[in-house]
Amino acid sequence: MTKQYDVITLFPEMFDAIADSGITRRALDEKAWALKCWNPRDFTSDKHRTVDDRPFGGGPGMVMKAEPLNAAIDAGIQRQKNDGVDKPKVVYLTPQAKPITDEGIRQLCEESGLIFLCGRYEGIDERLIQSRVDIEISIGDYVLSGGELAAMVLIDAMVRLLPGVLNTADSATEDSFSPTRGGLLDHPHYTRPEVWNGLEVPQELMSGNHAGIAKWRKRVAMERTLSRRPDLLEAALKNAVLDQSDLKILSA
Ligand code: ADE
Repeated sequence: MTKQYDVITLFPEMFDAIADSGITRRALDEKAWALKCWNPRDFTSDKHRTVDDRPFGGGPGMVMKAEPLNAAIDAGIQRQKNDGVDKPKVVYLTPQAKPITDEGIRQLCEESGLIFLCGRYEGIDERLIQSRVDIEISIGDYVLSGGELAAMVLIDAMVRLLPGVLNTADSATEDSFSPTRGGLLDHPHYTRPEVWNGLEVPQELMSGNHAGIAKWRKRVAMERTLSRRPDLLEAALKNAVLDQSDLKILSA
């Protein structure tokens, strides 16, 4: 079934970035997912098509008005209903939420339809969030100029996990953070030529010995994880994804 994604945004053209290029474009052509953007400006009734206003209580910046967003969300929900999705969840992108992880992406992927609400300016009238938003998501502890890039990050990360989107050759099961990788970062990759810029491909990869190659990759993945993200290694041991015998590889 085609995943249905609607986006509420003042900048729909930004989404050409995922609709027009790469794996996300191919997956869109193959109907693994569908995208429809709604501009809240098209849901205003005044002649200036006003989508923002000054904050009550004063202070810098502007706040997005509730009503145009409310009407745009309704349009998205109606569209999804017509395309067979009963109750799509509304996701608000905000730095004031818990940063998403691989596990969160996989959960989001289970939804047959989602509506992404992208804020601009200082934010959105809180009453709209209260009334309409089901999930608030951050993509990291830094502030973007709007939710659009965050929504695209989520869509990209989800679409590549959909069945049939990646062929087995570039399967997502071997990615860093994938549960099937045992909580380790990915190992390094090499291709031709055998010597580049005076640097050789590690001999272990040239041996043709599949067991030896697998062992080398696991050791290097563990070394990388230990030096770059010791927190991941600790979690993998705690969750029994790795055990002490795996650690022996490190000293081998
Ligand atoms: N909007 C602005 N910053 C953001 C962030 N870090 N994550 C999600 N949405 C945002």
